[in-house]
Amino acid sequence: MRVEIPLYTERFGSVRIHDVQRILELDSGRRRDDEKEITTIHKIEKNEIEDVEDKLAIVVPVKEEKLKLLEGVLSGIPHDCVVIVVSNSQTNPINRFKMEVDTLARFHRFTRRKMLVIHQKDPGLALAFQENKYTGILDKKEKLVRDGKAEAMVVGILLAKMVGKEFVGFVDADNYIPGAVNEYVKNFAAGFCMAESSYVMVRNSWKYKPKIYNTGIYFKKWGRISEVTNRYLNLIISNYIGFETEIIKTANSGEHALTLKLAEILKYSSGFSVEPYELLYILEEFGGIKPTSYPEVIENGVEIFQIETRNPHFHEDKGEDHLKKMLLESLSVVYYSELCNQTIKTLILNELVSQDILKKDTFPPQLPAMPPLRSINIQNFNEKLKEAKTFTMFE
Ligand code: GDD
Repeated sequence: MRVEIPLYTERFGSVRIHDVQRILELDSGRRRDDEKEITTIHKIEKNEIEDVEDKLAIVVPVKEEKLKLLEGVLSGIPHDCVVIVVSNSQTNPINRFKMEVDTLARFHRFTRRKMLVIHQKDPGLALAFQENKYTGILDKKEKLVRDGKAEAMVVGILLAKMVGKEFVGFVDADNYIPGAVNEYVKNFAAGFCMAESSYVMVRNSWKYKPKIYNTGIYFKKWGRISEVTNRYLNLIISNYIGFETEIIKTANSGEHALTLKLAEILKYSSGFSVEPYELLYILEEFGGIKPTSYPEVIENGVEIFQIETRNPHFHEDKGEDHLKKMLLESLSVVYYSELCNQTIKTLILNELVSQDILKKDTFPPQLPAMPPLRSINIQNFNEKLKEAKTFTMFE
């Protein structure tokens, strides 16, 4: 793969946020001895990417998606990555979860690839969390894992750690184009190959998110949510560094990846606020504004890559209310961040009121955050899951 070097990097304490990097070639060919190096371009060899894929788990959160889409996503994930499907699909009256497990089983029969599948609401999973005193992920009434994509991601990270992986990435189950999924994972690997730190996050930035209208297809650049969330995250950074910046271009990037070392020390905010919150938490904890509980990270630094995909992003359109909920959750974590001053808070309230998402003189809901996963004893967690037969492993 050939990728631009980051042409600009914004520093925030020990956090380095690299500007969007464009891909010149998805496949840069065989390595040649007489090759001339181009200083502004990284050439990442196939074997380097494959080495990362060997150590990478891809978590696929799924809730009531079409099985054909799920199967397409599985087919796009490079073979050597472990796939971890975390489902919150219904089991009753129609057992859609069973259909998902059957889809994986069929896929495994022909591909023999390593995959793991678990249901988010499995009582054995909740018990394993309880025994490890990690109750921030549980619904207070049900005593099961709460609904939410972030909750599925947290379960996925733990399973990735359980199977001994070094990297973990997330790919939604409603992606229409398997070839695009394949690219997302290669981009994650490319980011890890370029990194200098071991605390790394790679976020995909969409080249286009096309919309289909009666008049034809329109290659839209920005999603409606990310454009707004980016703006407020950039305001927060600008306010601290004293220079206006537009460095954040992937505030809501669902397709992203982390080193396990970083993943296990982050806090995660519930539902769809998870992606902007990851960024905010990194800035809060490692931005040098307050003392951190992780001095080794300050020493090493955190690196954030934003890589622009070549493939356009086609996914299921879930409607206006879904988008409004997503924006409310995203701006809520910005609003309640300790980095957010009163002026930015007022701007956020006005934004939500003007978009008809919040009533005047009310406030966004404060979402639950899940503490770092490092506190969980992974051997014990693994044993509890096995005892309760919570997951199915295909290998
Ligand atoms: N396990 C689980 N549990 N999966 C869930 C849940 C849940 O409670 N809720 C949603 N999912 C799955 C969906 O099935 C899909 O695979 C993925 O999580 C994303 O959910 P969508 O509802 O399809 O979100 P979206 O496509 O509108 O938004 C995506 O893109 C945004 C950026 O544009 C998500 O990835 C967002 O997180 C992201 O910010």
